[in-house]
Amino acid sequence: MLQTLRDQTSVLHKEIEKDNTAGLIMDHSITLEEYKLLLLQNYLAYKVVEDEIKRFEPEFSTDKSQRLAEDLRILDIDFKSPLAYFKDDFYCNDSIEALGAAYVLEGSAMGGMLIAKELQHCKNLASIGTHHFFNGERKNVQGWKEFMKKVNSREFSEEETQKATLKAKETFRFFGKTFDYRPQFTL
Ligand code: HEM
Repeated sequence: MLQTLRDQTSVLHKEIEKDNTAGLIMDHSITLEEYKLLLLQNYLAYKVVEDEIKRFEPEFSTDKSQRLAEDLRILDIDFKSPLAYFKDDFYCNDSIEALGAAYVLEGSAMGGMLIAKELQHCKNLASIGTHHFFNGERKNVQGWKEFMKKVNSREFSEEETQKATLKAKETFRFFGKTFDYRPQFTL
């Protein structure tokens, strides 16, 4: 299951990595406004996907949207009204689809670790005391390892693997869609 998910989404991962504002963190040029937008876009994606996973596989759901909400609250950004644009754009229909979606959320922790390391060198963000989402804590990767263990301990039919893979691809595309979002209000 995991190998298929990895192989089938690797192109989508490359695309999202290339187009992502997070690249501006890697080269330390990000402005405060760009960072606020990145947090808001990530919040919308994680919140909608986490809520769908929770309906079928609560143990695979993560708390990433809560941590993003904390960052947004500190920066005084309204994240409740933008959610209305996206909350009907992503659905899971069963626990296998929830697993495919969870793969994307859990795996994203690895990019998050790289980003967290570089955040400290972004001088435009120096006014932010604590980053709750990009916190660089090892337990983020721990969650990914536990997820892999759980998935590897189960047997899946060819049909289930296909279904999870389709949902994982859709999850990547949904993230892409939220990364195109621009709020109507000033950040
Ligand atoms: C600039 C942004 C990003 C960077 C630099 C990045 C980087 C990475 C790296 C270094 C890995 C580990 C590869 C390995 O150990 O084999 C990884 C894995 C992964 N990333 Fe990203 N990533 C980024 C964005 C994202 C986003 C936005 C998502 C999801 C929406 C995502 C989903 C995943 C997944 C699912 C894996 C696991 C792949 C596997 O099955 O091993 N990444 N990423």
